[in-house]
Amino acid sequence: MKGVVLAGGTGSRLRPLTNIINKHLLPVGELPMIQYAIEKLCKAGIQDILLITGKQSAGLYLEYLGSGETFGVRLTYKLQEYAGGIAQALALAEEFVWSGEKFVVLLGDNLFEDSLTPMIDAFEKQDEGAMVILKKVADPRRYGVAKMRDGSIERIEEKPEHPSSSYAVTGIYLYDSTVFDIIKKQTPSKRGEMEITDVNNVYADAGKLTHGFFTGWWIDAGTHESLFQATLFVRKEDR
Ligand code: G1P
Repeated sequence: MKGVVLAGGTGSRLRPLTNIINKHLLPVGELPMIQYAIEKLCKAGIQDILLITGKQSAGLYLEYLGSGETFGVRLTYKLQEYAGGIAQALALAEEFVWSGEKFVVLLGDNLFEDSLTPMIDAFEKQDEGAMVILKKVADPRRYGVAKMRDGSIERIEEKPEHPSSSYAVTGIYLYDSTVFDIIKKQTPSKRGEMEITDVNNVYADAGKLTHGFFTGWWIDAGTHESLFQATLFVRKEDR
Protein backbone atom coordinates (compact mmCIF):
# COMPACT_ATOMS: atom_id res chain seq x y z
CA MET A 1 0.00 0.00 0.00
CA LYS A 2 1.12 3.56 -0.70
CA GLY A 3 0.79 6.62 1.54
CA VAL A 4 -0.23 10.19 0.85
CA VAL A 5 0.51 13.01 3.30
CA LEU A 6 -1.41 16.24 2.86
CA ALA A 7 0.63 19.19 4.04
CA GLY A 8 -0.89 22.14 2.20
CA GLY A 9 -3.52 24.60 3.37
CA THR A 10 -3.13 28.10 4.70
CA GLY A 11 -2.79 27.34 8.41
CA SER A 12 -5.00 30.34 9.17
CA ARG A 13 -5.68 29.24 12.75
CA LEU A 14 -1.94 29.32 13.46
CA ARG A 15 -1.24 32.85 12.37
CA PRO A 16 1.08 34.72 12.71
CA LEU A 17 3.44 31.69 12.81
CA THR A 18 2.12 30.49 9.45
CA ASN A 19 2.75 33.91 7.87
CA ILE A 20 6.37 32.87 7.52
CA ILE A 21 6.34 29.07 7.41
CA ASN A 22 4.01 26.26 6.39
CA LYS A 23 2.11 24.77 9.33
CA HIS A 24 3.53 21.27 8.91
CA LEU A 25 7.08 22.49 9.39
CA LEU A 26 6.37 24.08 12.77
CA PRO A 27 8.20 22.39 15.65
CA VAL A 28 6.37 19.80 17.74
CA GLY A 29 8.75 18.80 20.48
CA GLU A 30 12.11 18.16 18.87
CA LEU A 31 10.88 17.63 15.32
CA PRO A 32 9.06 19.46 12.56
CA MET A 33 5.40 18.34 12.53
CA ILE A 34 5.69 16.61 9.15
CA GLN A 35 8.19 14.04 10.43
CA TYR A 36 5.63 12.36 12.67
CA ALA A 37 3.39 11.44 9.72
CA ILE A 38 6.36 10.11 7.73
CA GLU A 39 7.53 8.00 10.69
CA LYS A 40 4.04 6.61 11.37
CA LEU A 41 3.74 5.43 7.78
CA CYS A 42 7.25 4.00 7.74
CA LYS A 43 6.64 2.06 10.97
CA ALA A 44 3.50 0.57 9.41
CA GLY A 45 5.56 -0.67 6.46
CA ILE A 46 4.57 2.08 4.01
CA GLN A 47 7.59 3.37 2.16
CA ASP A 48 6.19 4.89 -1.02
CA ILE A 49 4.87 8.24 0.09
CA LEU A 50 3.52 11.23 -1.82
CA LEU A 51 3.80 14.56 -0.04
CA ILE A 52 1.41 17.23 -1.28
CA THR A 53 2.14 20.77 -0.21
CA GLY A 54 1.68 24.37 -1.29
CA LYS A 55 4.25 26.82 -2.63
CA GLN A 56 4.93 28.32 0.80
CA SER A 57 8.05 26.68 2.22
CA ALA A 58 8.12 24.00 -0.55
CA GLY A 59 11.90 24.28 -0.72
CA LEU A 60 12.22 23.66 3.01
CA TYR A 61 10.47 20.30 2.67
CA LEU A 62 13.02 19.24 0.09
CA GLU A 63 15.82 20.52 2.26
CA TYR A 64 14.63 18.67 5.36
CA LEU A 65 13.17 15.44 3.96
CA GLY A 66 15.07 15.13 0.68
CA SER A 67 14.42 11.84 -1.11
CA GLY A 68 13.20 10.34 2.16
CA GLU A 69 16.19 7.99 2.35
CA THR A 70 17.28 9.24 5.79
CA PHE A 71 13.80 8.43 7.06
CA GLY A 72 13.59 5.00 5.45
CA VAL A 73 11.02 6.01 2.82
CA ARG A 74 10.81 7.01 -0.86
CA LEU A 75 9.25 10.43 -1.24
CA THR A 76 7.48 11.92 -4.23
CA TYR A 77 6.40 15.56 -4.11
CA LYS A 78 3.44 17.29 -5.66
CA LEU A 79 2.58 20.98 -5.54
CA GLN A 80 -0.90 22.18 -4.61
CA GLU A 81 -1.22 25.46 -6.53
CA TYR A 82 -4.07 26.80 -4.39
CA ALA A 83 -5.72 25.73 -1.13
CA GLY A 84 -9.11 24.38 -2.19
CA GLY A 85 -9.82 21.89 0.57
CA ILE A 86 -8.68 18.42 1.54
CA ALA A 87 -10.47 16.64 -1.31
CA GLN A 88 -8.99 19.04 -3.86
CA ALA A 89 -5.50 18.27 -2.53
CA LEU A 90 -6.21 14.55 -2.53
CA ALA A 91 -7.22 14.65 -6.20
CA LEU A 92 -3.59 15.48 -6.96
CA ALA A 93 -2.61 11.96 -5.87
CA GLU A 94 -4.39 10.32 -8.81
CA GLU A 95 -1.26 9.75 -10.90
CA PHE A 96 0.65 8.43 -7.90
CA VAL A 97 -1.88 5.74 -7.03
CA TRP A 98 -2.38 2.99 -9.57
CA SER A 99 -5.84 2.05 -10.68
CA GLY A 100 -7.14 -0.70 -8.42
CA GLU A 101 -4.60 0.12 -5.70
CA LYS A 102 -5.57 1.03 -2.15
CA PHE A 103 -3.80 3.74 -0.19
CA VAL A 104 -3.73 5.55 3.13
CA VAL A 105 -4.01 9.32 3.56
CA LEU A 106 -2.73 11.30 6.54
CA LEU A 107 -3.44 14.94 7.24
CA GLY A 108 0.00 16.20 8.22
CA ASP A 109 -1.30 18.06 11.27
CA ASN A 110 -2.83 14.94 12.84
CA LEU A 111 -0.54 13.50 15.48
CA PHE A 112 -1.39 10.31 17.31
CA GLU A 113 -0.16 7.53 19.54
CA ASP A 114 -1.66 4.38 17.96
CA SER A 115 0.10 2.30 15.33
CA LEU A 116 -1.43 2.36 11.85
CA THR A 117 -0.66 -1.31 11.30
CA PRO A 118 -4.00 -2.78 12.52
CA MET A 119 -6.01 -0.37 10.34
CA ILE A 120 -3.87 -1.04 7.29
CA ASP A 121 -4.14 -4.81 7.81
CA ALA A 122 -7.92 -4.59 8.16
CA PHE A 123 -8.22 -2.42 5.05
CA GLU A 124 -6.04 -4.82 3.02
CA LYS A 125 -8.71 -7.45 3.73
CA GLN A 126 -11.57 -5.14 2.73
CA ASP A 127 -12.55 -5.73 -0.92
CA GLU A 128 -13.46 -2.15 -1.76
CA GLY A 129 -14.55 1.14 -0.27
CA ALA A 130 -13.01 3.35 2.38
CA MET A 131 -12.17 3.33 6.06
CA VAL A 132 -11.97 6.18 8.57
CA ILE A 133 -10.49 6.17 12.06
CA LEU A 134 -12.64 7.48 14.91
CA LYS A 135 -11.63 8.91 18.24
CA LYS A 136 -13.90 9.68 21.16
CA VAL A 137 -13.43 13.35 22.08
CA ALA A 138 -14.81 15.83 24.59
CA ASP A 139 -15.71 18.51 22.02
CA PRO A 140 -16.66 16.90 18.70
CA ARG A 141 -17.96 20.16 17.21
CA ARG A 142 -14.48 21.04 15.91
CA TYR A 143 -14.37 17.98 13.65
CA GLY A 144 -16.19 15.70 11.27
CA VAL A 145 -18.52 13.68 13.52
CA ALA A 146 -19.72 10.13 12.85
CA LYS A 147 -23.44 9.48 13.16
CA MET A 148 -23.60 5.81 14.08
CA ARG A 149 -26.36 3.30 13.39
CA ASP A 150 -26.20 -0.38 14.37
CA GLY A 151 -22.43 -0.17 14.79
CA SER A 152 -21.80 1.41 11.36
CA ILE A 153 -21.32 4.98 10.22
CA GLU A 154 -24.57 6.20 8.75
CA ARG A 155 -23.25 9.65 7.91
CA ILE A 156 -20.50 12.10 8.78
CA GLU A 157 -21.43 15.64 9.72
CA GLU A 158 -18.76 18.30 9.29
CA LYS A 159 -18.34 20.49 12.39
CA PRO A 160 -21.98 20.13 13.52
CA GLU A 161 -23.42 22.50 16.08
CA HIS A 162 -25.27 19.61 17.71
CA PRO A 163 -23.09 16.50 17.29
CA SER A 164 -24.94 13.19 17.14
CA SER A 165 -22.05 11.31 18.79
CA SER A 166 -18.74 12.03 20.47
CA TYR A 167 -16.77 10.22 17.74
CA ALA A 168 -14.53 12.60 15.79
CA VAL A 169 -13.41 11.47 12.35
CA THR A 170 -9.65 11.80 12.46
CA GLY A 171 -7.54 12.90 9.51
CA ILE A 172 -6.47 9.35 8.69
CA TYR A 173 -8.33 7.86 5.73
CA LEU A 174 -7.95 4.67 3.73
CA TYR A 175 -9.32 4.56 0.18
CA ASP A 176 -9.65 2.43 -2.89
CA SER A 177 -8.80 4.15 -6.16
CA THR A 178 -12.45 4.94 -6.97
CA VAL A 179 -12.05 7.93 -4.65
CA PHE A 180 -10.73 9.97 -7.58
CA ASP A 181 -13.94 9.48 -9.58
CA ILE A 182 -15.94 10.47 -6.51
CA ILE A 183 -13.93 13.70 -6.11
CA LYS A 184 -14.42 14.57 -9.80
CA LYS A 185 -18.19 14.62 -9.29
CA GLN A 186 -17.96 16.83 -6.20
CA THR A 187 -18.78 20.51 -5.84
CA PRO A 188 -17.36 22.96 -3.27
CA SER A 189 -19.12 23.40 0.07
CA LYS A 190 -20.57 26.66 1.44
CA ARG A 191 -17.11 27.63 2.70
CA GLY A 192 -15.79 27.17 -0.85
CA GLU A 193 -13.81 24.00 -0.14
CA MET A 194 -13.90 20.50 -1.55
CA GLU A 195 -14.75 18.65 1.65
CA ILE A 196 -13.32 15.24 2.50
CA THR A 197 -16.49 14.63 4.53
CA ASP A 198 -18.58 14.80 1.33
CA VAL A 199 -16.29 12.19 -0.24
CA ASN A 200 -16.60 9.92 2.77
CA ASN A 201 -20.38 10.27 2.76
CA VAL A 202 -20.53 8.92 -0.81
CA TYR A 203 -18.89 5.75 0.54
CA ALA A 204 -21.22 5.76 3.58
CA ASP A 205 -24.32 6.05 1.36
CA ALA A 206 -23.09 3.09 -0.69
CA GLY A 207 -22.54 1.04 2.49
CA LYS A 208 -18.80 0.92 1.77
CA LEU A 209 -17.42 2.98 4.66
CA THR A 210 -15.87 1.01 7.50
CA HIS A 211 -14.13 2.37 10.57
CA GLY A 212 -11.51 1.73 13.19
CA PHE A 213 -10.83 3.42 16.51
CA PHE A 214 -7.86 5.15 18.05
CA THR A 215 -7.48 4.29 21.72
CA GLY A 216 -4.36 6.35 22.42
CA TRP A 217 -4.04 10.12 22.25
CA TRP A 218 -4.86 11.94 19.02
CA ILE A 219 -4.60 15.61 18.22
CA ASP A 220 -5.26 17.89 15.27
CA ALA A 221 -2.46 20.38 15.84
CA GLY A 222 -4.06 23.11 13.75
CA THR A 223 -4.52 25.72 16.47
CA HIS A 224 -2.11 27.36 18.93
CA GLU A 225 -3.72 25.54 21.84
CA SER A 226 -3.63 22.10 20.20
CA LEU A 227 -0.09 22.63 18.89
CA PHE A 228 1.03 23.28 22.46
CA GLN A 229 -0.86 20.18 23.62
CA ALA A 230 0.75 18.11 20.86
CA THR A 231 4.19 19.14 22.08
CA LEU A 232 3.33 17.90 25.57
CA PHE A 233 2.12 14.55 24.17
CA VAL A 234 5.12 13.85 21.95
CA ARG A 235 7.63 14.84 24.58
CA LYS A 236 6.29 12.09 26.84
CA GLU A 237 6.50 9.52 24.09
CA ASP A 238 9.36 7.21 23.32
CA ARG A 239 9.44 7.24 19.55
C1 G1P B 1 -10.53 18.30 8.78
C2 G1P B 1 -11.77 17.54 8.34
C3 G1P B 1 -12.54 17.02 9.56
C4 G1P B 1 -11.63 16.18 10.43
C5 G1P B 1 -10.36 16.96 10.79
C6 G1P B 1 -9.37 16.05 11.49
O1 G1P B 1 -10.92 19.46 9.46
O2 G1P B 1 -12.57 18.40 7.55
O3 G1P B 1 -13.62 16.25 9.13
O4 G1P B 1 -12.31 15.79 11.60
O5 G1P B 1 -9.72 17.49 9.62
O6 G1P B 1 -8.19 16.71 11.82
P1 G1P B 1 -10.00 20.81 9.46
O7 G1P B 1 -8.81 20.50 10.30
O8 G1P B 1 -9.62 21.06 8.04
O9 G1P B 1 -10.85 21.85 10.04
